[in-house]
Amino acid sequence: MGELFDKYDRSFGAVVQSSIDFSGLPHSFFTAAKANALREIIATRLHGIRAPHLLDVGCGIGEIHPLVRGMFGRICGADVSAASIAQARIRNPEVHYDAYAGETLPYHSAAFDLSMAICVLHHVPPSQWLGFLREMRRVVRPGGLVCVIEHNPLNPLTRLAVARCEFDRDAILLRARWTRALMADAGLHDARTHYFLLLPSAAPLARRVEHGLRCVPFGAQYIASGIA
Ligand SMILES: C[S@@+](CC[C@H](N)C(=O)[O-])C[C@H]1O[C@@H](n2cnc3c(N)ncnc32)[C@H](O)[C@@H]1O
Repeated sequence: MGELFDKYDRSFGAVVQSSIDFSGLPHSFFTAAKANALREIIATRLHGIRAPHLLDVGCGIGEIHPLVRGMFGRICGADVSAASIAQARIRNPEVHYDAYAGETLPYHSAAFDLSMAICVLHHVPPSQWLGFLREMRRVVRPGGLVCVIEHNPLNPLTRLAVARCEFDRDAILLRARWTRALMADAGLHDARTHYFLLLPSAAPLARRVEHGLRCVPFGAQYIASGIA
């Protein structure tokens, strides 16, 4: 797996963009939507912690880090792709990055307030999903949060984008309820999901309408979170 994403260390953004050109929106719009979903989850589920510490598992080239930097006191990123980690270090010198083998995360237990994985689980073989989530839980302190953002297989435009994306050929998409069930099996409490990017439009009205429809299970992406 590391080798797969090593090939995209310089072209990651362009490859994603070519898979979503049909939407007429830039890749940055989708990255910003994920940052907003994360901001909302932190506000509603991780109260009272000033400057939380974040671990981004499968962080790739660290694309989202400039957008979320202000939300955290410290950000660490880990990925199996050493070439992506090298790019991430150049792009975000203030973030601490580690390449690892994809099983045991190279951090102490309970070292973070929050761990997240954005569009990573669908690249992990299903037999490893539970172990992956257990590791995400292990590195979070009790009462902290584990977050997963994933493609929603119930959204036809998501399926189209995945079919067009050359590095998604191995992708096995997970429905939100599977992710919630995996979170529960990994020992996380009160696993919840909501959907976003139902309306592929940057118009403020579309963004407000979409927020009201976050329980409708057809958004292009969903965010799942559980308490450690
Ligand atoms: C589609 S990219 C997403 C990158 C980043 N999260 C983002 O949203 O821009 C998937 C990433 O997951 C990484 N990955 C795949 N399996 C992994 C594993 N078991 N542990 C950590 N990272 C993994 C890949 O190397 C790749 O960088």
